[in-house]
Amino acid sequence: MAYGFQKIRMLILDALELNPTKRRPVWIMRQAGRYLASYRALRQKYSFDEFAGNADLAVEVSLLPLNQYELDAAIIFSDILIPLRAMGVEVRFEEGGPTITAPKTVDDIKKLIRHYHPETHTPVILKSLSLLRSQVSPEKAVLGFAGAPFTMLAYLLEGDLTKDLGVTKKWMAKEPKLIEELLSHLAQMMGDYLDAQARAGANAVQLFDTWASVLSVSDYERFALPYARRAISAVTVPCLYYVNGVSHLLEQAAATGAQALSVDWRISLGEARKRLNQITALQGNLDPYHLLLPKDQIRQKVFEMCESYGRGPGHIVNLGHGIVPSIPEDGVKSFIDAVHEWSLSL
Ligand code: CP3
Repeated sequence: MAYGFQKIRMLILDALELNPTKRRPVWIMRQAGRYLASYRALRQKYSFDEFAGNADLAVEVSLLPLNQYELDAAIIFSDILIPLRAMGVEVRFEEGGPTITAPKTVDDIKKLIRHYHPETHTPVILKSLSLLRSQVSPEKAVLGFAGAPFTMLAYLLEGDLTKDLGVTKKWMAKEPKLIEELLSHLAQMMGDYLDAQARAGANAVQLFDTWASVLSVSDYERFALPYARRAISAVTVPCLYYVNGVSHLLEQAAATGAQALSVDWRISLGEARKRLNQITALQGNLDPYHLLLPKDQIRQKVFEMCESYGRGPGHIVNLGHGIVPSIPEDGVKSFIDAVHEWSLSL
């Protein structure tokens, strides 16, 4: 029996555990980004690497969207590509997006497989998470994140990413054993990375498998699923798993053991929920470009999304992919207001 002490519940953690919540929790993938005037202003003074390489700045940026909107989570400011530097890979964040120097030979790939220790190789994100946790109110979740092994493989091998992942698929065809070795290493690495983030203060983590949908179901089962599952199983807090274009892989993605699947807009939440029979929570899934619509239409889209999921617990509202720089700040406000308004009908 607890006397006078009531544990503060985080809406997102309740939704992840499929417990009822007083309203639907909401946050936005890439919520600290260039659509925010406050981010663009800070970006005039500092480079992306200066933000991500300094805990005070990273926390300041992570808090920008929370100062402006009623969001239920803060996600730590960093990038999925940063831990690649611990593999000896050069990653540059430039105007047109990040660039990576891809390995050219079998030997180059073998050299990527090397000891990784989160506290030694990626200390800033861990320090930032502890600081962020101390500054965010207790009912809001602090989220860590990482790229899923297959998506990290794709970034590593492609250099300048092509949409069909032709370079990655060529390596998979020609050197499957080597690629599996590299994926095992990435699974170990990302699991250690995520769990270090949990120990540093993340209440939940999200694993981004942005590129896995270029795979057939059987290739997903061989080259993505087991490695994502291994990374997720290393983590001591709940894990959300995002695949862009997940529809043909929904059941397999749920088999990773994630507590929630974060789904894109191409599948309705109603269909996803029915197919999964509530074995996981669901996150999503408005098309980010719908935030360009007038306020009343955004409201309608949000209502349709929430109705599609239906009643009952387990829905974390989000977009179906990261927010893009062209979205107006008012569109984001209309989105969040509509989620709150819909929740009043619960
Ligand atoms: O969500 C957040 O606000 C936290 C920070 C975060 C960033 N990237 C910051 C960032 C997170 C969670 C990511 C994840 C990420 N990074 C993914 C997975 C999610 C997805 O979109 O599928 C991927 C594929 C990347 C790789 C990446 N980083 C790309 C393709 C780009 C360029 C495109 C873009 O949006 O600018 C980046 C750079 C990047 N990462 C920026 C931010 C805020 C823009 C940097 C700037 O110019 O200021």
